[in-house]
Amino acid sequence: MNTPLVDALKNCANNPHATFYVPGHKQGKGISEQLSALFGETVFRYDLPELPEFGGLFPPEGVMKTAQELAAQAFGAEKTWFLANGSTSGVMAAILATCGEGDKIILPRNVHQSAIAALIFSGAIPIFINPIYDLNFDLPYTITVEAVKQTLSQHQDAKAIFIVSPTYQGVCADIPPLATLAHSYNLPLIVDAAHGAHFGFHPQLPVSPLTQGADIVIQSLHKTLGALTQASLLHLQDKRVNPSRLSTALQCLQSSSPSHLLLASLDAAREQVETQGKHLFDYTLDLASRGKAEIEKISDLSLFNPSLPQAGCYDLDATRITINVEQLGLTGFAADEILHNELGVTAELPTAKTLTFVVTFGNTVADIEALITGLTQLRQYQPETSLVPLKLSGLPPLAECISPRKAFFQEKTVLPLADTVGKISAELVCPYPPGIPVLIPGERITIEALNYLQQVFQLGRNITITGCSDVTLKQLQVIAS
Ligand SMILES: Cc1ncc(COP(=O)(O)O)c(C=O)c1O
Repeated sequence: MNTPLVDALKNCANNPHATFYVPGHKQGKGISEQLSALFGETVFRYDLPELPEFGGLFPPEGVMKTAQELAAQAFGAEKTWFLANGSTSGVMAAILATCGEGDKIILPRNVHQSAIAALIFSGAIPIFINPIYDLNFDLPYTITVEAVKQTLSQHQDAKAIFIVSPTYQGVCADIPPLATLAHSYNLPLIVDAAHGAHFGFHPQLPVSPLTQGADIVIQSLHKTLGALTQASLLHLQDKRVNPSRLSTALQCLQSSSPSHLLLASLDAAREQVETQGKHLFDYTLDLASRGKAEIEKISDLSLFNPSLPQAGCYDLDATRITINVEQLGLTGFAADEILHNELGVTAELPTAKTLTFVVTFGNTVADIEALITGLTQLRQYQPETSLVPLKLSGLPPLAECISPRKAFFQEKTVLPLADTVGKISAELVCPYPPGIPVLIPGERITIEALNYLQQVFQLGRNITITGCSDVTLKQLQVIAS
């Protein structure tokens, strides 16, 4: 076992001392009885602040520095930062570290909302590229090398290229040529690999973007490895990005009291996957493939299984299971609700036509059996009117937009939904999950986007539409003309 931070936490917690520091529960002695009965006492004993024995994150010192260096080695980066505020903070820091006010950044239309938040913070100008779209499954893939090449030829002054790989459904971009292209313009390639922390730890998994030439990679260890929720990593491998600006951005965006439970979970998850990765993913891949083999036998369900490689879909994470439920006459949202409320199975992500299930080494054969039983029973439920799928048609030309930052700070007015077509959105309206914004500040509002939002609102009872000031979606904030 080589887990310096976990060891330091253990030693400190078990060394009796009078605690005159925060957190106020003082190793659990002041915690509410209810919480203590629920969580047990142990977890609070280890909920310690930045004590000298741990070293700090900014600048990295002592045990914390060693733990981050071990993570860098294991994941194949030059430098790695522990994140206690999720990949959300990593995505925002990566953009803040590479783009300033008025700088152009090339990014896919289906970015996570954290990237849009970073555009507001930084003042960067988005040059959006539409990802290749799978119309059968109504899912975005990734952006292609050709599309980026063409965009770069029109925007040679861009300061960074940002991609999402893998997507929620496990679709991976063709990273090596994207990295070569980015570097030929001396630009950093930032990869939001929030869903790909396990890549590279088994020969049948996609390789890590870090070995493919990416410069900054952000990974949520809490999504696919054994770390606590919010525990993520940001890796740097580049001379094009200033590490000290990146570090400052990370410090600005994160709590000054990071949870050491989360940070220690990163240390432990790294050690676990480093020493047992092959075995853990033999097991995970076997579970997922058993599940897929059974799903293929269920009529009226189709498994997401794109041919590889193809434009926008260079590789696929075999641990993800995505199915199309359209043939059942159900939307993904309705199927999700039935499975969750009545059949004892909870998916990760519903969309208009699909459901995505995340399989990890935390799952069991019994889980897969429950999934198959649940999916088989879905057919007994009443069909419903299906949702008209959103075709992401990209943003209007730049001349028609104002920057997300400008829109965020500009004077706004509230209009009934129907009157907002053609106006400029002042809000970041985003169904969650998956957290891909449908409207962003500065974007011209289209009828398609409004239709989609209304339908998701009506049908997606397990989905929260975040970001709009009117939660009933009857009105929207737009830029005052
Ligand atoms: C593509 C993508 N990037 C970033 C994030 C943010 O990750 P986190 O939940 O670790 O903050 C998510 C979250 O779902 C995501 O799907």
